[in-house]
Amino acid sequence: MKRNISPSILSADFTIIKDQIQSVENAGATRLHIDVMDGHFVPNLTFGPFIIKQIRKLSNIHFETHLMIENPDKYLQDYIDAGSDTLIFHYEASNDINRDIDTIKDNNVLAGIAINPDTKAEVLKPFIDSIDYILVMSVFPGFGGQSFISETLDTMRRLVDLREDRDILIGVDGGVNINTIAQVYETGVDVTIVGSGLYKADSIKDRFSELMSVW
Ligand code: DX5
Ligand code: ZN
Repeated sequence: MKRNISPSILSADFTIIKDQIQSVENAGATRLHIDVMDGHFVPNLTFGPFIIKQIRKLSNIHFETHLMIENPDKYLQDYIDAGSDTLIFHYEASNDINRDIDTIKDNNVLAGIAINPDTKAEVLKPFIDSIDYILVMSVFPGFGGQSFISETLDTMRRLVDLREDRDILIGVDGGVNINTIAQVYETGVDVTIVGSGLYKADSIKDRFSELMSVW
C-alpha cells in the first residue's frame, strides 16, 4: 500500500517550525510538502532555497518541493542543492518539460509535474515514462485553506488509468481534509497533501492518525 500523507508546512507556525516538523514526524509522517510561490505564477510569495536549506537541517524526512514559479529551469538547481528529495514543477509554467525533467533526474532527485485544476490529465501522456511523481492540484494554487474542487476527481481517475503499472506516485494537493480525503483515495491516488486540515487541528498527532485511517 503506497497511500501516504504529505503535510504541507504552508499552514505551519513558522515561529516554531522545528516543533511543527517534529510533530508530524512523531505522528508518523514520512514526507513533507514545501510550497514555493513566486508572486508571478501564483498571486502569493513564500520561501526560497535559503529557507529550505535551513529547514533541511531539522529533519531527514523526504522533502517534496512544489515549485509554483514561472521559468522553473532558472531555479531547479537551487532547489536541488537546498535538499529536495522530490522536485515538482508546474506543467503550465515550464518552457521545456523534457529538459526540466532531465535536470532534476541528472541530480538523482525524483522528478514531478503538477497540473492545475483546469489542465487535462492527458497532457502528461508524453512524459509518463520519464516522471516519478504527478501532483494533481485540487485547488488553484496560491493559498492554503481553499475548498476542494470536486471536478478534479475525474482528472485523478484518468491519471491512475494512464499510469498503469508504472512506478509513479500520484499526489493530490489542495482542500484535502478529514471530510474530503476518502473520495480522493477512492480514485486510486497514493499521496494526499494536507496543510490546514492538519496543522490547524487541535492535536496534530490525533488528526494525522484520523486522516491515515480513512481508506
Ligand atoms: C496550494 C498549495 C498547497 C496548500 C494546501 O497552493 O500548493 O500545498 O498548502 O493547503 P490546504 O491543505 O490548506 O488546502
Ligand atoms: Zn503544494
